[in-house]
Parts: sequence; C-alpha cells; structure tokens
Amino acid sequence: MTAGTTASRRPYHRLDISAPEFWKNDFRTRDETFAVLRAEEGLSWHAPTPSIFPHAETGFWAVTRHSDIQYVSRNHELFCSSQGVSMDPMPAEIQRAMTFFLAMDPPEHTRYRRLINMAFTPRQIRMIENQIRASARDIVDELVEDLETNGTVDFAAEYARKMPMRTISDMIGVAPEDREKIADAVESLFGASDDEYSSLEERAPHLMTQLGILAGAGIDLARARREDPRDDLMTNIVNAEVDGHRLSDEEIGAFMVLLGSAGNDTTKQASSHALAALVANPDQRDWLLDDFDARIDGAVEEFVRWSTPVIHFARHATEDTEVAGTKIDAGEKIVLFYCSGNRDESVFARPHQFDVTRTPNPHVGFGAPGPHACLGRQLAKMELRHLFHELLTRLPDLTVGEADHVHSDFVHGIKRMPIGLR
Ligand code: HEM
Repeated sequence: MTAGTTASRRPYHRLDISAPEFWKNDFRTRDETFAVLRAEEGLSWHAPTPSIFPHAETGFWAVTRHSDIQYVSRNHELFCSSQGVSMDPMPAEIQRAMTFFLAMDPPEHTRYRRLINMAFTPRQIRMIENQIRASARDIVDELVEDLETNGTVDFAAEYARKMPMRTISDMIGVAPEDREKIADAVESLFGASDDEYSSLEERAPHLMTQLGILAGAGIDLARARREDPRDDLMTNIVNAEVDGHRLSDEEIGAFMVLLGSAGNDTTKQASSHALAALVANPDQRDWLLDDFDARIDGAVEEFVRWSTPVIHFARHATEDTEVAGTKIDAGEKIVLFYCSGNRDESVFARPHQFDVTRTPNPHVGFGAPGPHACLGRQLAKMELRHLFHELLTRLPDLTVGEADHVHSDFVHGIKRMPIGLR
C-alpha cells in the first residue's frame, strides 16, 4: 500500500489548524488548541492548508511538543528538507527559489551552508558588531527626533525593519538606495497570506514578482562585484566555489532571497514583540536596566521565545517511521510548530508569561539543534542587544498602543504598533 492511499483514508483531527480562520486568532488563543494537541498522545493528522498552487497533498502531521520537535530536527536522514519545508502546499522548485539551502539535505546542504560561514569569521563579526552598534545609535536618534516632532510613531511599520535591513545590507553590500525596495519585497513575501498584501487570486503572481525583485537584486549585485570586487559577502560569494564550480546567477539569486528573508523580517518581528512586552512589564524592564550588560543575553533569548517570529517549518519522512508512537509513512509531511514548542508547559514554567529572568531557556525560536538550526542567531542576538540598549536607556518612558497583527500561518508578525512618550 502506498503512503497516499493510507493517508487518503486517515481521518483528520477534530481540531482544524489548517483553516485560515484559525490563523486569524491571536497567538495566545491559538495556543489553547496547540495545548490540547500537546497533551494528547502521538501526533495529529490535518488537512492540507488552502493553497494557491495545484497539488495532490493529502495532509500533514503536526509536531507540537518540544521534545518531538527536537527529535525530528536532529534526524535529517529520516526527516528531510529537500522535499519542501513549507506547510502550505507549494511546488518544490518555488520553495528552492525562496529558501535555497534551507530546502536541501546534507551533503549538498553542508556545502552551501559553509558559504555563509564566510560572513562570520571573527574579523567580520567584529566589523559587523561595530556597524550594528552605530546603526542602533542612528536609528534611535531618528526615532527620538520623530517622537519629539510627531508625538506618536509607528514602531513596527517604520522602525523595527531598520536594524535588520541595515545589517544584512551592510553585510551583503546592498547600496543604501536599494534597501527599502528589498525590505518591501521581503515583507510582502513573508506576509503573502495576509489579505492586505494581496488577494488569494493575486497571490501566486505576487509571490513570483517579489521573488523576482529579490533574486534580480542579488544577480545585479553579483555582476557588479565580479567587475569591481569589494570587502563584502557578495564579493566572497561570487568568488566562492562549491563542488568545483562558481555559483550560477540563479543560485546567487536564491541566496539573496534566503538572506534577505531569513535575516530581515524575523529580527524585525522579534524587536516589535519584545518592545511591547517590556513596556507592558516595567518591572522586567527595570530589572534588565539594573545590570544591562550582564542580563541582556538571557533576556534576548526570552525575546525570541516570546515572539517566535517563525511559526513553523516542515520536513518529509524519507522512509516509514515513527514519532511519539505514531506511524508515519514514507513521503508524508511533518510540520514542526515552533510556536507550540515554545509554549510547552513540560519545558517552560508559566509558558504564557514573558520572563526575561527565565533560565535555562531552551526555546526553539531559532529552530531546534540539527543541520538547519539558524545560521544567523548570533547576528540576530547582537542586533537585538544593541538596539534594546539604545531604546531602553534613551527612551525609558515609552508607551505602546494597540498592535495590528499579520494574518499568517508562517510569520508571527506585527504590521503596525504605535508608540509614544509618556
Ligand atoms: C530573531 C531572528 C531569527 C529567527 C527567529 C530565526 C529563525 C530561524 C529558523 C526557525 C530557522 C529554521 C531552522 C530549521 O529549519 O530547522 C532558521 C534558519 C536560518 N536562518 Fe534564521 N532566524 C533569525 C535570524 C536570522 C538572521 C539575522 C539571519 C541572517 C544571516 C538568519 C539566517 C538563517 C539561515 C541562513 C537559515 C537556514 C539554515 C539552514 O538551512 O542551514 N536568521 N532561522
């Protein structure tokens, strides 16, 4: 019997986490459903999410417990990424164009992943940290002036994107005048399921347009660096060899999409959520400020657990296997819900409480340990550390208004969030 025929007879779980309506609930409300799934035995089987692409998928398994997320992430031979990492049905070639080596398996994956490590030598890290420190100061200078002039400012829409955008752009070598265009493309790519960015009928062409903008920007930059090399990541990338050949334009375009998307919206969302949480919990903000340098690293881990900007990634079983006692057929999709792992009550005491003193904090916001664990986590943490140093020390009396959330099953995002001075 093939995987398809078993799967087509298998009943879906009574709790529907595939419906777009489910994802319109807030994070806390959604977790009431995930808490039920975490408490049940084994894994639950769900209908495919509505897709803009034609497909023959029959459903997916939801992995909601922290320990199961760890198990699946570690065992890449059993649970591969090369058949797709998206919960929403989407052709594998589009996923490749969107996520590059995130949707590959070792050993191919390892070879490309090494390329990014070129950006993280100790010398590069020191250089990047200096740029990040300077960016944090500049951004908060702009913010202070804006607040003094206008009283209220939309932090999520206008400011949260600045730090990650500048950092990634500096690293890759994107010219200042092209940064906004790239950040806009990334945001609408990530928020592709939010009606504000495009209607259902428009989504497929919209997705391809944003991909084209990002990939095109990468290819243009690559051409410029081949002619006129500089001391930046793009120059390293165009000169690097993988398996004895230089990267093609198509590969460089996909690389740009991965770096642009992985490095921008994630950190942006973490900073909006963290700012809202710190303003809502002044005792924690004060505790942090009492010994900022010693306490910020632990606090940043809580920013990421609390915000969980990336809601899920998927894998596919490479053979018939089992997770938590549930039989999985070869070829079936398994979705790792980081949002649920980060609220798992068997790992985190008071999981729904923001707590910057939390230790240990083995969250899966950057993915769980395994070949795909986030490559940019040190960079993201550095950005958040310097940004919050400036924000909290220079603007201790901020107020935060009501946030308007992105409706998405992939990004836990805030579109708009007004802030003001007390
Ligand atoms: C708070 C910010 C961030 C969050 C929450 C985050 C989250 C994640 C998650 C969940 C994964 C997937 C892990 C998996 O599939 O197992 C990932 C992978 C990745 N992230 Fe991040 N990330 C963040 C910042 C960054 C930054 C700043 C960069 C920029 C360099 C980056 C680059 C990457 C790359 C290249 C991968 C793919 C790794 C691979 O497949 O080998 N991330 N990240």
